[in-house]
Amino acid sequence: MQKYIDKAKVLIEALPYIKQFNGKIVVIKYGGSAMVDEVIKSSVIQDVVLMKLVGFKPVLVHGGGKDISHMLNRLGKESQFYNGLRITDKETVDVVEMVLSGKVNKSIVQYIQDNGLNAVGISGKDGKTIKVEKKLVEGVDIGYVGEVTEISTVLIHALLENDFIPVIAPIGTDDMGQTYNVNADYAASAIAGALNAEKLIFLTDVEGVLRDVEDASTILSKIRPNEVESLIKENVISGGMIPKVQCCLEGIKKGVKNVHILDGRVEHSLLLEIFTKSGVGTMFF
Ligand SMILES: Nc1ncnc2c1ncn2[C@@H]1O[C@H](COP(=O)(O)OP(=O)(O)OP(=O)(O)O)[C@@H](O)[C@H]1O
Ligand SMILES: [Mg+2]
Repeated sequence: MQKYIDKAKVLIEALPYIKQFNGKIVVIKYGGSAMVDEVIKSSVIQDVVLMKLVGFKPVLVHGGGKDISHMLNRLGKESQFYNGLRITDKETVDVVEMVLSGKVNKSIVQYIQDNGLNAVGISGKDGKTIKVEKKLVEGVDIGYVGEVTEISTVLIHALLENDFIPVIAPIGTDDMGQTYNVNADYAASAIAGALNAEKLIFLTDVEGVLRDVEDASTILSKIRPNEVESLIKENVISGGMIPKVQCCLEGIKKGVKNVHILDGRVEHSLLLEIFTKSGVGTMFF
């Protein structure tokens, strides 16, 4: 009997959070780096499905770095990065679009639909959702890498109103209709800002922001916006974590109330973060 009472307690503990987020938009950026294991992938999607069924409005934005690198490798091309962003020539942007909008996007849609809900996979091209211009990093041209200039929320709202879970691949177009690769972290924070999301969560392949990447016990569970620049300068934060923390800041600046980085490799880390008092991962405040 006790175990049933304990189960009921877990549900009751979730009640205030279910109330708080009822009808609210939660943007989840699912990093390609954390999409390696099928069991974990399915647990992440189950959490998203549960969020939807208890009245949240989840919007998924995904990456796919590992799949892109894998496909480029098969084509005999090496992946190169500059400050954590992929250097993207003409051939690479074609591969990026195929992998992100095709394979990765549709596999997430299928997982959601296997769990009984409806999802629609789009890229930022559809409905002119993500408009970009060429991004220069410290003045350096790294190819077809887009900087988000505008988000149109029309299509996303249309999907949400019709009870679909939007699944968005971070591909953008410029005024000339040229296709660009957009770092999924930037896409997610821009989308969260434009949607006035209540919460923005980055699911990645580490426990959170770590002081020493080799040591999980050095996790920074809370980071203040004014600490970010010095953490990057001191090289504590590097590679793919740079755009992520910058996007956390962006999210906060745009008025998103809760911004978190979570370990997407841990089963149900999303549920733990959202429905319990236990703080997992790194929170920005
Ligand atoms: N201080 C730090 N704490 C944690 N991770 C760090 C830190 N500095 C650098 N990193 C690196 O950042 C990586 C996460 O960024 P990465 O871009 O690889 O993943 P992602 O954004 O989740 O996936 P994708 O780019 O495919 O969407 C970690 O795996 C880690 O190697
Ligand atoms: Mg990344």
